[in-house]
Amino acid sequence: MGYLSTDKKKITAKTFVEMKNAGEKITMLTAYDFTTAGIIDQAGIDGILIGDSASNVMAGNENTIPITVDQMIYHAKAVAKACKHCLVICDMPFGSYQVSREEGIRNAIRIIKESGADAVKMEGGEEIADTVKGIIDAGIPVMGHLGLTPQSVHKFGGYGLRAKQEAEAQKLLKDAKILDEVGCFGITLEKVPAALAAEVTKSVKAATIGIGAGHDTDGQILVYADALGMTQGFKPKFLRHFAQVAEVMNNGVQEYIKTVKESTFPSDEESY
Ligand code: KIV
Repeated sequence: MGYLSTDKKKITAKTFVEMKNAGEKITMLTAYDFTTAGIIDQAGIDGILIGDSASNVMAGNENTIPITVDQMIYHAKAVAKACKHCLVICDMPFGSYQVSREEGIRNAIRIIKESGADAVKMEGGEEIADTVKGIIDAGIPVMGHLGLTPQSVHKFGGYGLRAKQEAEAQKLLKDAKILDEVGCFGITLEKVPAALAAEVTKSVKAATIGIGAGHDTDGQILVYADALGMTQGFKPKFLRHFAQVAEVMNNGVQEYIKTVKESTFPSDEESY
């Protein structure tokens, strides 16, 4: 274990950059509710993202497009209440910052004010840089998100690897430098070639957090339900299952059903 993440002081956006500079890997998972966030925070994670993947994981939608600012605030409020140590970052959902700079700043302020999250994350590069700067100028730390940006799934036509071609790779590198220049403390790099992610990591002051971006980023993030083996039938190449929670839950539920059917639960000791 490194020295920064074991320091029990609250982790801030500044800590992420210090960890990058100290060469200490940054660990992140998503969470969307109080109970799960509490377990993840107590385990010693550096950052929790209330991802707009809540749209898929919590609500069962096909993509992240439908989730609203109000729904993100609901999830983020529950997560922020549970986190004593880690940095809490809330995704700005689709439609909350694309229309205008002013609307983006207003929504970011609302998210931070009403949820208690420490920072926001936004998808996009040069095209949103002015809005990102406005939010940072308002005092809110921003994490960028480049590569596979799921809010643009209809534009990409799917969830495949991004920036394979030189032109897209160069655009991504340029976008990362722009986000760095306007003051992002971190940049998520999703589903891009490892060599490109390594080059971005070397080129920016911001901490890079990879998902499907190889091992040379400053940190890693996974959707907790994927990492812990809860989501069924989703196993892209970049994903490792660190636990088999679906199996544990299934066994527990079956045991509960069995004992109720057999009238062995509740026992006399478990009755008043
Ligand atoms: O919404 C999300 O969970 C994310 C991560 C996959 C990075 O953006």
